[in-house]
Amino acid sequence: MSNEVDILENDIRERFPEVLETLLCDRTTKKNIFWATDNYRRLGRDYKFMSPITSNLITGKKGDVITPRVKKSLAVQKARSKDMAEVFTPAWVCNAQNNLIDDAWFGRENAFNKEVRNDGVNGWEATKEKITFPEGKSWKDYVLDIRLEITCGEAPYVTSRYDATTGNIIPVGERIGILDRKLRVVNENCDAKDAWLAAVEDAYKSTYAYEWQGDSLLLAREAMLYAFLDNYAYKFGGEPELAYIQKIADIVSWNVWQMDGLKCVVPCSCKDVEEVSSDLFAGDKVTKIPCEGCAKENIKKHNGIYCKIKDWQENKVIQFESLVK
Ligand SMILES: C[S@@+](CC[C@H](N)C(=O)[O-])C[C@H]1O[C@@H](n2cnc3c(N)ncnc32)[C@H](O)[C@@H]1O
Repeated sequence: MSNEVDILENDIRERFPEVLETLLCDRTTKKNIFWATDNYRRLGRDYKFMSPITSNLITGKKGDVITPRVKKSLAVQKARSKDMAEVFTPAWVCNAQNNLIDDAWFGRENAFNKEVRNDGVNGWEATKEKITFPEGKSWKDYVLDIRLEITCGEAPYVTSRYDATTGNIIPVGERIGILDRKLRVVNENCDAKDAWLAAVEDAYKSTYAYEWQGDSLLLAREAMLYAFLDNYAYKFGGEPELAYIQKIADIVSWNVWQMDGLKCVVPCSCKDVEEVSSDLFAGDKVTKIPCEGCAKENIKKHNGIYCKIKDWQENKVIQFESLVK
């Protein structure tokens, strides 16, 4: 298991060639994800708000450019809270909320853990026994149940490799994220490697998240990839074959995407349209018409780039906006 809170892009590039490129991929635009923040501007012209995040900008001597919020300077943390309402949720709160969803799914409490408070500190104790499933539902149904973390930041509701507010590493057996819970169920029900890998693939395909800021998005994708490595090592020891790591990176690059959640489009992709009208006496007049979706706050009428995601069960690409009623 990697004990690092800050997954290093150099580590990914050296150990798994190609995988970092996949994690930087935007499946909607078929280009790279972009910074979508001004926090890195001081580093040069390739770090501007609209510039793509390419591997050369975050590896080599620049390998520590992207760090989790908990390791960012206080000034940067403050600026990000002000600009993007970035405040990360403590692991115990993520756990309590994920428990509410599972309480409803299982029809009982404490399927995965029991919330506790010791010496004024909130936490949880993972249940020790194998999880049982309610009548009419199987462990496979749980793994396939589709879940989404909106505005995910570094995705603490998806995987709790570390507590996003303290930076403390959380061992595999005690993790509480949406994906962590699916992986626990797979670990408990699949011992043969092929069956395990197939079920883990399903767990990833049914876990979605989106985020505006490119650096947080990359951190979320990295955390999910390392959760795969951690769980493989926990179950079998060692490291999975590169082809499986690449497969998981592919799924993650589809399922965790860059989007303005208020508009369902790539951030800042809506634009004014210029309309030219001719006047016999005054000549051509150019009027700027704003995006109708932005002007009327109508999610169906934006002229920006609507984000695409993959419906793995139907094996088709769909616009996320089509799911919004
Ligand atoms: C309060 S943080 C929550 C992050 C994470 N879900 C958590 O609970 O720790 C809000 C996140 O929403 C993102 N965000 C803000 N406005 C957004 C928008 N319109 N679309 C998508 N993400 C947005 C920010 O970049 C930030 O990462």
